[in-house]
Amino acid sequence: MEKILITGGSGFIGSNLVKYIHKNKPDWHIFNLDALTYAGNPRNHQALENDSRYRFIHGDITDSALLKKIFTEHEFDGVFHLAAESHVDRSISGPEVFLTTNVMGTFKLLEAGLNHTRNHPGKAFKFVHVSTDEVYGSLGFDEPAFTEETAYDPSSPYSASKASSDHFAKAYHRTYGLPVVVTNCSNNYGPYQFPEKLIPLIILNILDGKALPVYGKGENVRDWLYVEDHCEALVRAFEKGNPGETYNIGGGEEKNNLQVVHALCDLVDQKTGRKKSSRELIRFVKDRPGHDIRYAINSDKTEKSIGFKARFSFEKALSKTIDWYLDNMDWTRSVQTGEYQQWIQKQYSS
Ligand code: NAD
Ligand code: TYD
Repeated sequence: MEKILITGGSGFIGSNLVKYIHKNKPDWHIFNLDALTYAGNPRNHQALENDSRYRFIHGDITDSALLKKIFTEHEFDGVFHLAAESHVDRSISGPEVFLTTNVMGTFKLLEAGLNHTRNHPGKAFKFVHVSTDEVYGSLGFDEPAFTEETAYDPSSPYSASKASSDHFAKAYHRTYGLPVVVTNCSNNYGPYQFPEKLIPLIILNILDGKALPVYGKGENVRDWLYVEDHCEALVRAFEKGNPGETYNIGGGEEKNNLQVVHALCDLVDQKTGRKKSSRELIRFVKDRPGHDIRYAINSDKTEKSIGFKARFSFEKALSKTIDWYLDNMDWTRSVQTGEYQQWIQKQYSS
């Protein structure tokens, strides 16, 4: 049995990764360490509650004593580090927690990993640090896509905090030899995404007949990666990635925001039999400060070295994503009303 620590396993990507590993890696035991901030939802893993290969640990990555305890108790073979504050708009209105969690939290986790390797010399161990393409900054419309060699140039407090954590992760490899692999991926979408990010926000606003806010002129471009593809890439990075290396993970699906919102309007209308076009709900609103124009990922190295290429097309996976939200309205409503947090308090307050 491989013992794998996933941090942030109750968030969007973490929840999908827990499920992906549980399904595809029957000899891996998953430990999910999550503080259950507003973005964490333990209901995502209700089906695994009594599963012998899954264990939830309610705790904070900035808690060194807790990290020491769980590393000593479970002797992990690897870490997938996803726990973070992840929303750019929140980082603009309240940056401090981004430093605490993304920078200090990552530092504490690297320290715990390093102590663990020192206590178990010769034991196989890998630390996958999950990061974002936003660390590379903003591309012009005609510029070539980000490669692993692109210089860091973060714009938002979120991307600055992720860039800092990437530097620490790489420094722990160079200085102390900790077997760290860094992955930088593009915008994910799929089931369990908190409805503050563009795609789930627009789906739910369409269903509720609310305005669809598009920042600026809707011309900003993102490369969209279906979360299941991302999970496959992360497992490959863990199994095949070389310590000290960075791997860019993209979906190869560049779209501007207006194209995404139009596609969502048309698909939701089609699926719900709505007669009046939801495009009428689109409202162009004040732009985000420091809004990066374009992200695009060159995944050649990742494809050649760890054999990953995204399999899901944007069209198909967007349709699957909408179906998931339509089929899981109880999840969505409990998140929208905040009821999931009451459930958390009942379960975990002592
Ligand atoms: P998310 O916000 O949905 O989930 C974050 C999870 O981390 C939540 O479960 C939350 O409770 C937990 N968490 C937050 N602070 C914590 C702390 N101090 N201790 C323990 N747990 C804590 O985020 P996501 O979208 O799933 O992103 C996961 C990772 O992937 C992040 O590191 C993010 O930077 C990176 N990433 C995300 C995207 C994307 O499109 N969503 C793209 C590139 C990279
Ligand atoms: P978001 O999902 O917040 O991801 P990120 O900022 O990390 O790329 O936003 C995706 C794009 O959509 C980004 O260019 C900002 C834009 N956007 C809107 O136009 N309206 C919205 O309400 C949101 C949340 C985002």
